[in-house]
Order: sequence, then C-alpha cells, then structure tokens
Amino acid sequence: MDQFAARFRFIDLFAGLGGFHVALSDLGGKGVFAAEWEPTLNTLYEHNFGIAPWSDVNDLDSDEVIAQTVPDHDVLTAGFPCQPFSKAGEQLGFEHTLQGRLFFKVFDILSVKRPRRFILENVPNILRHRGGQTAATIVAKLEELGYEVQVHRLSPHQFGIPQVRERAYFVGSLDGLDAFKWPTEFEETTSIASVLHSDAKPSRDIPEQTLRAIDMWDDFLRRSPAEVKLPWFPIWSMEFRATYPYETMTPPKLWANGRSGELDGFAGSFGFPLERLSSQEQRELIPSHSRRDGDMEFPVWKQKFIRQNREFFLTNRKWIEPWLDQWQPWEFPSSFQKFEWNIQGGVRDIDEYVLQVRASGIRAKRPTTAPSLIAMTNTQVPILGANISRTGKRRYMTPSECAELQSLGGIDLPESDIQAYKALGNAVNASVVRAIAEPLLVDLKAPKKSAARPQAA
Ligand SMILES: C[S@@+](CC[C@H](N)C(=O)[O-])C[C@H]1O[C@@H](n2cnc3c(N)ncnc32)[C@H](O)[C@@H]1O
Repeated sequence: MDQFAARFRFIDLFAGLGGFHVALSDLGGKGVFAAEWEPTLNTLYEHNFGIAPWSDVNDLDSDEVIAQTVPDHDVLTAGFPCQPFSKAGEQLGFEHTLQGRLFFKVFDILSVKRPRRFILENVPNILRHRGGQTAATIVAKLEELGYEVQVHRLSPHQFGIPQVRERAYFVGSLDGLDAFKWPTEFEETTSIASVLHSDAKPSRDIPEQTLRAIDMWDDFLRRSPAEVKLPWFPIWSMEFRATYPYETMTPPKLWANGRSGELDGFAGSFGFPLERLSSQEQRELIPSHSRRDGDMEFPVWKQKFIRQNREFFLTNRKWIEPWLDQWQPWEFPSSFQKFEWNIQGGVRDIDEYVLQVRASGIRAKRPTTAPSLIAMTNTQVPILGANISRTGKRRYMTPSECAELQSLGGIDLPESDIQAYKALGNAVNASVVRAIAEPLLVDLKAPKKSAARPQAA
C-alpha cells in the first residue's frame, strides 16, 4: 500500500515477529519504522514486511537522534520487554539495568514525535508490580505528555482464538478517549481444533521418557474408580507412602539444628526409610519441595498440598499401591512425578486432552484452549493427546499451529523451530491488537502529519 493511500502511519518498537504490524496493516495502516535488535528477527521482519528495522532502541539516545531517525507517525506501538516485570523473573522492574528502562525510551520517542495514539503491551503482572506503583508511574509519565491513558487486561480466548494469554494493554490518545471502548468479548467457547493441521509434521518427537510419564499418568487415571473424585489440587506422587514431618517441624529445620536422627522411623519420598542415614543421605530421599535449606516452617499452602496428597493416598491405596509398584515413579525426574488434572468431570483418558510439561508437573487441560505460549524453553510446547492431534499420535503442536494461536498464520517464521517457538512465545496476539486498535484508531481517516513539535526553521 503506498504511503498516501494509508489511513495512518505507525511504528513498531520491540517488533519481534511483528504482531502489531500484522494487526495495524490489516486496518489500513502503513508501517514506517520498526526496531528489533535480535538479528534473526530483524532480518525476518524485513522479509515479511519490507521494512529494515533499527537495531538497539537504546541507540536512539537523544532527542536529536530520535527526531532525525524516527519518521513522523500517527500511532506508536510497543511490546516493551517484560522480563523486568514478569512473575517468572526477578521483578527488578525499572531498576533492571538495561531492559527495565526501555519504557523510558518509549516515553522519549512519544515526547519528541507526539503521535496521536499509542498501544503498549506487557505481562499482566506489571499492574501488580511494586503494589501497583510501576503501572501508576507509567500512566503518570504518559499523562505528563498530554495523553489520556487507559489500561485493560485481555486474552486471545476472549476473541475466538484458543489460547489463554492474559496481557496488560495501555492505550493512549492526545485527543482524549471519550469515544473509545475496549472491545467486547466473544461468548462462544473456543476449540484448539480450529488451529490444528491434519498434515502437521512436527520436526521433534516427544522424548521417550516424556511419553512413558504420560502413559504412567494415563494408567493412574484408568485405575481410578469412577466414584473417586480426582484431586483438584496438584498430585504429588512422592508424598504417597511418605510420613516425614511437615507441620510443626520440617526436615531442613532438623538438619539445621543437627537433629537429623529425629527423622529415624519416618519415611521420605515414596516411603523410602530415613533411619540411620546422614542428613546428606536423608536429603536425597526427601521431595525437592520439602528439602530447601532455610525452610524452618512450610507455608500453609504447601502443608495443605502435602496433607491432601497423603490423605488421598491413604484413602485410595488399594489401587495406588499397585500403580506405584508397576511404574516406580521415583525413576522419573521430579517434575514428571507431579500431575495437574484440570478437568473435573471429564473422561479419564489422557489422549483426549492438551498436555504441558511444566516444572510444577505434567498438566492436562481440556482442548478448548491451549496454554499460554512461553518464550523461555521449547520443552513446554503444548502436547496434543492422540485422540485430538488429527494425526492419531501424541505430538507437539507445530510452529505454524502455534503461529495461529497468535493470529500470525500469514507470516514466515524463523527457520529453526526453537527460535520460532521462542519468538511466538514473546509475540503479541494480532487479533487482540486488532480488536483494540479498531475503535482506538477509527478517526485516523486521512494521512495525517503527526503532531510533532514544530522544528526550528
Ligand atoms: C516482548 S517481545 C515483543 C514482541 C512483539 N510485539 C511481537 O509481536 O513479536 C520484545 C522484543 O524486544 C526485543 N528487544 C529487547 N530489547 C531490545 C532493544 N534494546 N532494542 C531493540 N529490540 C529489543 C526482543 O528481542 C524481543 O523481540
């Protein structure tokens, strides 16, 4: 689309795969600038959208450089890096040396170029970070520039896309937001089937050990009598047969006080006896959630999960004991020994569901939505049970199916699957952005000069 036919001009900071670009060009906008420092994504952006992005946003280091480098535009978009504010990170926020300050780069560009609208995206935890102070600072700074600002949390599954991925969106306008309304959510439930391909050929097989762990939990479900309500709490199989103290005393407290002998007569993970062992040997036999140095007392939630798992075992030992003997879950890594069944009332066949291998255990959930894609690792790519995978086999979702979860089905992805999954886990969902942008940009009809401060003649 040529520049003069475009309804509005936009820039895409921290552009990644270009979720904002896809959404805004769909609405008739023209991308005039992007910034992305990761070389593969930088090159791919040019390939997909015909714009060679600027590299490091930190190099836009003065008002003069910004004024000369960043073209005039009507809409600024930015999914500024979220690790400084993410629950998964250290939450250093603005103090996070480089990355935490990137919001202020966005601020500098807004201040010099004064586009009429912006849309910013981040993890929802940014709204709770430092008791809400971080978000309050962001809003106050943006208001200082004359923008009216609103913040809202939205997820693709509210717009007919089968992924639960809540994100915080900040929208701003120099013309006020009286006419703006956040998009309304769809009522219908979604189904992951809408993004699956029957000719999918995942490049990576599920590792043998993971498949065996899935078989183990499938057998657990099949052995459970229909009248037994399966736990809604995480199943920690290492607590089955265990008796070590966890309420008024903890193993780390006994070790810290040189009283490991008091664990004589108790049983550790899966019932392994703890007597006549050194504290080092005992440690090997205590579940990882109960052996952290300094845990003199366990938090109430942990005590509750341990108690519930032990009670569940004692009431159901008739069918759990033979399961333990057959599968010997202690031979598996600790995360495979835990299972989260998020499907109360569903059929007890693991191949009907979407699975995800998490540090907190293998999670099974209904195929209405996929879990949130995350960037850190490719071991957490959603696994489809054999009955829902369309290929008759358990398999990972492919990068192109994950792209559809982000409404990015129409662009080329990084060639390496690992890089593709990572970039998709970082991306913004284009349908959500489009739903927000449509009412926000409705009055940006004609090509407009941005409201940049007049340059000295
Ligand atoms: C949360 S992701 C945003 C993804 C993007 N909205 C999308 O749809 O794919 C943040 C992106 O910012 C990039 N980035 C981080 N620091 C940067 C910097 N200083 N300059 C330019 N890009 C940066 C990362 O490589 C990453 O791709």
